[in-house]
Order: sequence, then structure tokens, then C-alpha cells
Amino acid sequence: MRKIISAGIIVYIMAQTLCACGKQQPDGANKVYVGVAYYDQSDTFLGQLIACLKNSFQEYEKDGYEIVMQVRSASGSQRTQDDQVKELIDSGCNVLCVNLVDRADPSEIIDLAREHNISIIFFNREPVAEDMMQWDKLYYVGGPAAQSGIMQGELAVALIQADTGIDRNKDGKIQYVVLEGEAGHQDAIIRTKNVVETLKNNDIEIEKLSYGIANWNRAQAQNRMLQMISQHQNEIELVLANNDDMALGALDAYEKLNYTESTLPVFLGIDGTDVGLEAVRDSRLAGTVYNDKEGQASAIAKLAVALVSGKGLEQIEFENEKYIYLPYLKVTKDTVDEFFQKQSRN
Ligand code: BGC
Ligand code: CA
Repeated sequence: MRKIISAGIIVYIMAQTLCACGKQQPDGANKVYVGVAYYDQSDTFLGQLIACLKNSFQEYEKDGYEIVMQVRSASGSQRTQDDQVKELIDSGCNVLCVNLVDRADPSEIIDLAREHNISIIFFNREPVAEDMMQWDKLYYVGGPAAQSGIMQGELAVALIQADTGIDRNKDGKIQYVVLEGEAGHQDAIIRTKNVVETLKNNDIEIEKLSYGIANWNRAQAQNRMLQMISQHQNEIELVLANNDDMALGALDAYEKLNYTESTLPVFLGIDGTDVGLEAVRDSRLAGTVYNDKEGQASAIAKLAVALVSGKGLEQIEFENEKYIYLPYLKVTKDTVDEFFQKQSRN
């Protein structure tokens, strides 16, 4: 009996060694069946992030992995997303990438995954810390929200210091409005807080005229901005938007009212989506902050493959054992070309 066992072990070790040479993984572990669930198909940034994710996963096919990726978008309904995750699991997914609709309501999805022992990589919409502690196979990949607010603030400070014309009424203060993303989204709350603090910390006198919640959406931002312009006319000197789509929506509002360039405020966004970068290149936005979708996608794919194959997990660096944050980057007209290149490389 003992001989049979040790012979078995030797055969197993040989098989493992052979596999390592041919870059083949042990049975089953080279099949990565990814289920991706995201909150809404109309979100510009998410659409581009999902495209990056496809590219990043495909890279692993070169290394002998079989990759199948299924994507579901939930049209803004957590109920729908819970059902979609159930279907993805039933259809055989062995790892899940989840962009929650309601970041405070992941319990159903976590329970489903735990029942089937399938790891979840949450991304972009960060569950609260207590929920991340519910199980040890939960991970998060995203950007450090505070940094994006600080960088947007630093862009604003540099512009205001370089151009006294931004203070159009010459009262020594910058009158500003904020366009905020969804209430309750970590990026909306933290970006707004940090951009304002950064301006204050740099001794810029500011006066908040108003704010509007526009749920990351260009059309909603245009409406909110039209309302704010009707209240404040030419008083607004700076528009701080939690993302590029809303910064562009604000600009749409001014265009609709036929404002000329000399009477426009300064607009700043966050994301560096295709449309955002183009607007920076054309000086319609004064700047943006790059939300590194290529980096996030490649971290998600790497982690997913490691979780399924059981290989390479020890090389991945986590914060608090389950978080991966990819740094943001400032984008101005001077640096925008680098970012177009970054996108075309992906
Ligand atoms: C992005 C937004 C996007 C949101 C969706 C944010 O990080 O900046 O553009 O709409 O995530 O969750
Ligand atoms: Ca002023």
C-alpha cells in the first residue's frame, strides 16, 4: 500500500514538473470562467473599464489559460444584480468580479459566493469595511478616492495661482459650485471633501455658491447646471465635478445658453475617459484626474487568475490583506498626450 502511495506521489510530482515546463496548469486550474457584474450599462467610465478588463484577461490566453468572460449589467437595480450573480454561478463561473449597484448591500451576493466557494473581486464601488470582513475570499480593486479629490484641488490651485483672471469679479475669492456623483458612493463623498480642503489648505479664498447631485451622469449634470446658472448667472468662476461626464454636462449647459469663452468658468473633472481627455486636449476642461482603468483592469485579471489557478497570489501586494488601490494621476493639456498613448497600448 505504502509503495503504491509513494509511486503515486512520484507520478504526481513528475506530472507537476512537466506541466510547469509546458506552462500548463494542473487539471481544471487553467480554466478561468469569469463572471463580471456591473451596476449600469450607461456609465461611461465603467463601459471603458469593462473593455480594459476584456483585454487584460485575454493576455492570459497566451500563457495557456482558457478564459471565458461573461458580463452582465444591472441597469441600476441591486435585485437584478443578485439574480445575475446567481445565474453566473449556475453557469459555471469560478471567479466573480462585482461592481455593486448598492455598495452597502452586498450580503446576498456574498452568501451565494460563499455557498459555492467562489471568490469575489469587488471593484470601483467599494463595499463598507464590515462587509469586506464577512468572508476571507473577498477582495477590492479601485482607486484611492481621497487622492483624486486632492489632485483635483491641486490642479485648481495651480490654475488659480497662475491666472488672476479666473477671479472674474475681482473680490479675492473664487466662487465655485460642485457637481456630485451618487449620494453614498465613496468617490462622490470623499472627492468633494478633499477637493475643497485642498483649496483651503493652499490659502485659496473660496465661496461655495451651490451644489448639485447628478449621479455621474452628463444629462443630469446639464440640468443641475442650468438651474445653478439661473440662480447665479455670471457669478460662477469654478465648476468642480466629481467626474468627467458631469464636467462635460456642465459645459453643455453653458453651450446651450450660448455663453462665450471669455465668460465661462473653469471646469475640472475626474476620470480621463476618452471624452474627458479629448476635452482637456481641446481646452474645454482645464484638467482632469486619471482614474487608472488599465491598471485596475490588469490588477483584477491578475488576482482572478491567481485565485482560480492557485498560483501567484503571494506575489500580489495587498493593503489590509484584501485591498488593491491604483494611484490616480493629474492630467493637464501639457500631459494629456501621454494618457492617449496609455489607452492605445491597452
Ligand atoms: C467614476 C465615475 C463612475 C463611478 C461609477 C467613479 O469612480 O469616477 O465616472 O461613474 O465610479 O461607480
Ligand atoms: Ca471671485
